[in-house]
Amino acid sequence: MATRTQSQSNRTTSNRSRSKRGETQDQRTGQSRSAFSWGENTGPLLGAALAGVAIGFAANYGRKALMQGMEAAAGDWDEILAAEHDMALAIFDKMLATDESQTFKRKMLLMKLTHALDKHAHQEEMVVYPALREANQTTDADHLEGEHGYIKTYIYELNEMGPDGTNWLEKVREFRALVSRHAHMEEEQVFPPFKQALTEEQNARVTSLVNRDGFWMA
Ligand SMILES: [Fe+2]
Ligand SMILES: [Fe+2]
Repeated sequence: MATRTQSQSNRTTSNRSRSKRGETQDQRTGQSRSAFSWGENTGPLLGAALAGVAIGFAANYGRKALMQGMEAAAGDWDEILAAEHDMALAIFDKMLATDESQTFKRKMLLMKLTHALDKHAHQEEMVVYPALREANQTTDADHLEGEHGYIKTYIYELNEMGPDGTNWLEKVREFRALVSRHAHMEEEQVFPPFKQALTEEQNARVTSLVNRDGFWMA
């Protein structure tokens, strides 16, 4: 009896160590096979899973293509970014028009704003600011990128405060003022001289890269 228990215990240990290595014992053949290898029966299941992924990808691609089309029609990179500034400021205005009873609306608007600012910051940080540094406008690029950090800080604070926080409107007002100041600096001080120094080809390249980055972030 003791021997049998001992033997069962050994078998359990052995199975456990095998499963740790990603292997299972095939019940019919007694052969070991790895969970990471594609067995004969995984074909249809894998096919269905891949089809699902393909449909999801196509739907997302279509949605992104639509957003991209809308953006591509907006013009040069600086015009695209200026339109996004206006869009973000318009979301702020809707937020400022809410009261503390409209918690769901506040949450939705903050989500929309977060997504818009995330996409926008990504385009600037991955394309425009590196191009500015390449053109020796490093101080401006670093200053603007630093402000993006504070923009994220406001998003963090608003999420922590919750939509019924007593200082919610005040915090949103401060946040809007920072984004507005930042956008004006880009649109009026930093981007125009940088764009003027670009050749037509370089300008088209920056526009294409901004569009491509925005496409994947949409
Ligand atoms: Fe920016
Ligand atoms: Fe911007």
